[in-house]
Amino acid sequence: MKELIDKLAASHSLSLSEYETLIRDRDDEAAKLLRKLATQTCRKIFGNSVYVRGLIEITNICRNDCLYCGIRRSNTNCERYRLTPAEIVACADEGYELGFKTFVLQGGEDPFFSDEVLGGVVREIKSRHPYCAVTLSMGERSRESYKFLRACGADRYLLRHETADREHYAKLHPESMSFDNRMRCLRELRELGYQVGCGFMVGSPFQTERNLAQDLKFIEDFKPDMCGIGPFIPHKDTPFRDATAGTVGLTCYLLSIIRLIYPSVLLPATTALGTIHPTGRELGIMSGANVVMPNLSPVNVRKKYELYDNKICTGEESAQCRDCLSNRMRKIGYELV
Ligand code: 5AD
Ligand code: FES
Repeated sequence: MKELIDKLAASHSLSLSEYETLIRDRDDEAAKLLRKLATQTCRKIFGNSVYVRGLIEITNICRNDCLYCGIRRSNTNCERYRLTPAEIVACADEGYELGFKTFVLQGGEDPFFSDEVLGGVVREIKSRHPYCAVTLSMGERSRESYKFLRACGADRYLLRHETADREHYAKLHPESMSFDNRMRCLRELRELGYQVGCGFMVGSPFQTERNLAQDLKFIEDFKPDMCGIGPFIPHKDTPFRDATAGTVGLTCYLLSIIRLIYPSVLLPATTALGTIHPTGRELGIMSGANVVMPNLSPVNVRKKYELYDNKICTGEESAQCRDCLSNRMRKIGYELV
């Protein structure tokens, strides 16, 4: 294991079967070494800075039916909401006052957010806060749509690939969705000049160690600007309600590996990681993550954006959420920037 880890740290690359071995044969010693190398790498590039991105959950209405997701179309127990363009802009304004320089607009694939409507929101935020970055996380759209939104000023786009294995992808999604379209979106976003984020869930149903190795190889090849990974957590109103959740240990282990594959990648310690463990996000940062995403959504909708059970940060105001994270980071020796 030590040889594999040293090879990874030196060459930033392993073969598919080497990644698989690294995952399958993991033990405390390997995790410790990976964590040490990953945090050293991170410190060299980013010092003790942790980047913040303000997350605004703009709609939980979704035309898709991903089997793992709490806001899937078939979930009739989900109380639906959508923010108005004015409310979204107000969230960004509030975030700006709190010191945020990046806003992530995330939502289900809600037809209300046509190019015109979403593009208008992006334009408005960019004109009020020209030096801020606007990131979209609004799912699969056409090339023309991505192009238009880019022209409206969107800088970045997050679209998790979810799994780099075609067969596994099919087990997590309805037939109406396809692995090829997902990959088409990621490729086109990159071609259109977006900074692109991909990512996957750790411990999703049917996931094998081989699948995770494929995710790592995909990240090595694709070189996303950002990579969002968090544990899968079952949602009570989905077909995967009885599936087991991913673990903090494996998620942190993979965060360390990804840091070594791609030293300068932006790697969030996700809300899902903070949900399965009281100090999950801190553990993520101490494993090589360097981004956190406080919630800037209006408090009255937060509980409704429930992708998985028991999601954290649903009760606090934006300022409280920022301060909470800032204190948590300071406690482990990091500063929010
Ligand atoms: N557990 C963990 N993460 C989830 N996501 C969706 N549903 C769940 C779940 N049950 C993740 C997906 C999606 C992102 C916005 O949230 O990876 O891309
Ligand atoms: Fe959101 Fe603690 S980080 S409440």
